[in-house]
Amino acid sequence: MQQLFRTRTHGHDDYRDSGLKRCLSAFDLTLMGIGAIIGTGIFVLTGIAAATQSGPAVVLSFVIAGFACAFAALSYAELAGSLGGCGSAYGYSYAAFGELIAWLIGWNLLLEYGMAVAAVANGWSGYFLNGLSSIGVELPAALIAAPSKGGLVNLPALLVILALMGMLIVGVKESARLNALMVGIKLTVIAIFLFAAIGNVNLANWSPFMPFGWFTRGADGHTVGVLAGAALVFFAFIGFDAVTTAAEEAKDPQRDLPIGILSSLAICTVVYIVVAGVLTGVVSYTELNVPSPVAHALQLLGHRWASGAVAVGVIAGLLTVMLVLYYGLTRILLAMARDGLLPAFFTIIHPTTQTPVPTIVFVGVVCALFAGFVPLGELAELVNIGTLFAFVMVCIGVIVLRVNQPNLPRPFRTPWHPVIPILGAASCAALMGFLPAITWWRFSIWLGIGVVYYFAYSYHHSKLAADFR
Ligand code: ALA
Repeated sequence: MQQLFRTRTHGHDDYRDSGLKRCLSAFDLTLMGIGAIIGTGIFVLTGIAAATQSGPAVVLSFVIAGFACAFAALSYAELAGSLGGCGSAYGYSYAAFGELIAWLIGWNLLLEYGMAVAAVANGWSGYFLNGLSSIGVELPAALIAAPSKGGLVNLPALLVILALMGMLIVGVKESARLNALMVGIKLTVIAIFLFAAIGNVNLANWSPFMPFGWFTRGADGHTVGVLAGAALVFFAFIGFDAVTTAAEEAKDPQRDLPIGILSSLAICTVVYIVVAGVLTGVVSYTELNVPSPVAHALQLLGHRWASGAVAVGVIAGLLTVMLVLYYGLTRILLAMARDGLLPAFFTIIHPTTQTPVPTIVFVGVVCALFAGFVPLGELAELVNIGTLFAFVMVCIGVIVLRVNQPNLPRPFRTPWHPVIPILGAASCAALMGFLPAITWWRFSIWLGIGVVYYFAYSYHHSKLAADFR
């Protein structure tokens, strides 16, 4: 029984002293954060959220989600600095809360990362199809959308994940240099969009500014309004936590991780607000419920070359987002399996490729199926609820650790403690509350399976428990 609440005093062991070269500076880490953050959220969900949830006030949705993330990021930064090791909320919660909660967080991270890979693949597919159609190639309607969107399967989304699976098997890892290149491409895409579109902003498009109001929950549990929009576009901010997975390669992790987390988040928030404002300013929000809204808006304005350039850039840029998330997912599975909480199957490393091939294939097949058969909006909401839950726990973890382990070195201290962690936990919990009922059902079922699995398997196989025997 002890093991349920027994904590570790550090992050995850497996990546400590891993012999990796400490070569990443605060600047590299910031780029890494931006590389993981900017993706389907801004390039696709902005349009969906504007058209179906927030109207032009999607800008406010971004501000609200950005604040929740900033509070959570400040808390994340404190834990990343003091616990070091391979970050991830799983490792932190092992230190703050003990095994059971750590398991639940890890279980949620699996949902977050797995569904996020599928969601970004959906966003990628929208721009890929847009690119194909601009050169006159049209795929049959049945092969480009999930069943609930009138198709049979979203084939490009499914296939891109299988392609990434192949890359990960042979050991392609995101290098800092490739990431910097991709960040450059994505920022260039955004600059092209702003440059081409800004002259076309028409204030009439911002009226009505808030056509769906602040928040309404329908009888069927469906939600609309600016706050529901914030809970959806929260997806666009996910990824700053990925910076913590580079702890072993950072020159000075205690100083540089918090800088990387906070500055990548700050830069992306500003970019998002500007892009969302301009996008809803150049066309009516009602036009934006399409798979590639940024390219679509440019097309409507007659900027065909800019639209094509944006599509190509997004197609390239989203590949790295998927790669980071996919890779992160295999790492979390590995970490949980090494702790004995998941079967040893997930720790098998192929001797030739030196990659966890069974895990990569398992994850690839599952994510590809979700990407092919579930539409983007539903995937994103599922990702968000799992991530928000993890963020709530990280914020509470900061407070718990200050009480339980007051002498732990804290190179970065969350300012105005405990106000910021409390605001972080409260705002992330509130965003969870703005998600639709169906998402809550799915999340509860996932959590329920997790609890049953823990007591049926993990509890008996835990390495930490073995220490007590
Ligand atoms: N924030 C990432 C994206 O928007 C997950 O694609």
